[in-house]
Amino acid sequence: MSAPSLELIGFSKRFGALAALDDVSVKIQAGAFHALLGENGAGKSTLVKCAMGYYAADQGEILLNGRQVTIDHPREAHTLGLGMVYQHFTLVPNMTVLENFVLSREHVPAVIDWAAERRRLQNFFSTTPFTVPLDTPVADLAAGQKQKGEILRQLYLERNLLILDEPTSVLTPDEADEVLSTLKKLTQEKRLTIVVITHKFREVNAFCDTVTVLRRGTLIGTKPTSELDNDMMAEMMVGRREARAVVERAERTPGKPVLQVEALSVADNVGQLAVEDLSLEIRAGEIVGVAGVSGNGQRELVETLAGQRHARSGAMKVHGERYTATRPEMIRHKVACLPEEPLRNACVADMSVAENMALRSFDQPPASPDGIRLRRAPMREVARRLIEAYRVKTPGPDAAIKGLSGGNVQRAVLARELSSEGDLLIVANPCFGLDFAAVAEIRARIVQARNRGAAVLLVSEDLDEILQLSDRIVVMFDGKLALQTPGASADVGAIGRAMAGH
Ligand SMILES: Nc1ncnc2c1ncn2[C@@H]1O[C@H](COP(=O)(O)OP(=O)(O)OP(=O)(O)O)[C@@H](O)[C@H]1O
Ligand SMILES: [Mg+2]
Repeated sequence: MSAPSLELIGFSKRFGALAALDDVSVKIQAGAFHALLGENGAGKSTLVKCAMGYYAADQGEILLNGRQVTIDHPREAHTLGLGMVYQHFTLVPNMTVLENFVLSREHVPAVIDWAAERRRLQNFFSTTPFTVPLDTPVADLAAGQKQKGEILRQLYLERNLLILDEPTSVLTPDEADEVLSTLKKLTQEKRLTIVVITHKFREVNAFCDTVTVLRRGTLIGTKPTSELDNDMMAEMMVGRREARAVVERAERTPGKPVLQVEALSVADNVGQLAVEDLSLEIRAGEIVGVAGVSGNGQRELVETLAGQRHARSGAMKVHGERYTATRPEMIRHKVACLPEEPLRNACVADMSVAENMALRSFDQPPASPDGIRLRRAPMREVARRLIEAYRVKTPGPDAAIKGLSGGNVQRAVLARELSSEGDLLIVANPCFGLDFAAVAEIRARIVQARNRGAAVLLVSEDLDEILQLSDRIVVMFDGKLALQTPGASADVGAIGRAMAGH
């Protein structure tokens, strides 16, 4: 088993009127660690999905080790040794690692000899640079371990060319480095060829030897990483040196308390306490950043504040009034919320962009003059404005939101939530999957909201983001607040130790 070369020649793919790919050609050398860069909606995911047989390209040829191959279905890609790892996990959460691996094989025997399979897998793990516990249900693994599991499964299935689509989005920088450096070793040993889609220049510089940039469905170029710096990569991506949005933090002292969380306890999906006796206050004009490694209760906290989960005990207040996150309360108190995985948690996938942008206001004027009738024209008009202001790439307001690229779904939901002039803004990993220009823009808008007096709860796994934006920082560990510090005088070392539970 050794690393193959892969050449994609003349790939084109249209979705209706949109040319998602226009005559794109890329050559990936055997054993390369090849980055695929581009703005949100540039066509990165479309290109690799065509190569893997998930999408039928309108045109395009594939050479594997110099030989022409046809890939009309992911099964054929798998047979040829091509595998794909996504941003979101695909292992089945309530099965163990062993069960997941065995059952994902192309041919699963009718009767499985689990003892033999376990031995086989243990032997296999003795040859891999990292392992994951075999008998743990995947749901109980930390994000980094899950992503390692996804990669190990690809190796177990004897894939020797891996395409990774934003694989580190859910990982902390340390976890990302660990996963990427082990993959790097495998490419250096010529056991693997890697294509990675990422928005993080840091990872490109540290791990990738070659960079290909797409812009609006066309190929801009392929270059060795050593010939590029961040500014050059950024310019290849967006085409011009844009004035980068900057965060102008207005001098202001926090006002009245907007959100008060008192001794809140919340259970996770299996009934364990995920948030334990947590108290927190956020004032008007203040950003409170919640730092922490994912899986320490942040998700459950945000879901409770957003009305997607019930608290077991404790209380929440907004503007001094009891708050249980019902829709009328959220409207009355002007609460806006961006949860994680917006396509799943904050959108109706089959509805249009305009309908999704109106989700919070479809029963209010102007979309509905009386709360009963629905008027499409004003809804579409609002959507058009938001699409332009937040530069959401979509064929139009009537397109289904599930057809948008990952980053553009995120932008559409941010447009809806950030444009509502809320008094309380709850955002979880707001820049997840966004390209560098969009990151700067969204962060600037969050600070603007704070400057005009909104209280902001910013939950993020990106410590740089927390440090850049927060007036006050708290660290969440094991469901509790481990540390509280003003943002201006924050000690990064102390935050890191608190995140690790020391
Ligand atoms: N199934 C689909 N139906 C309709 N349009 C699609 C579909 N898949 C992708 N597109 C469109 O093709 C374009 C390219 O999308 P793609 O997902 O490849 O972007 P991307 O470079 O991966 O962006 P991101 O960084 O946001 O993930 C986008 O404008 C998107 O809306
Ligand atoms: Mg994508």
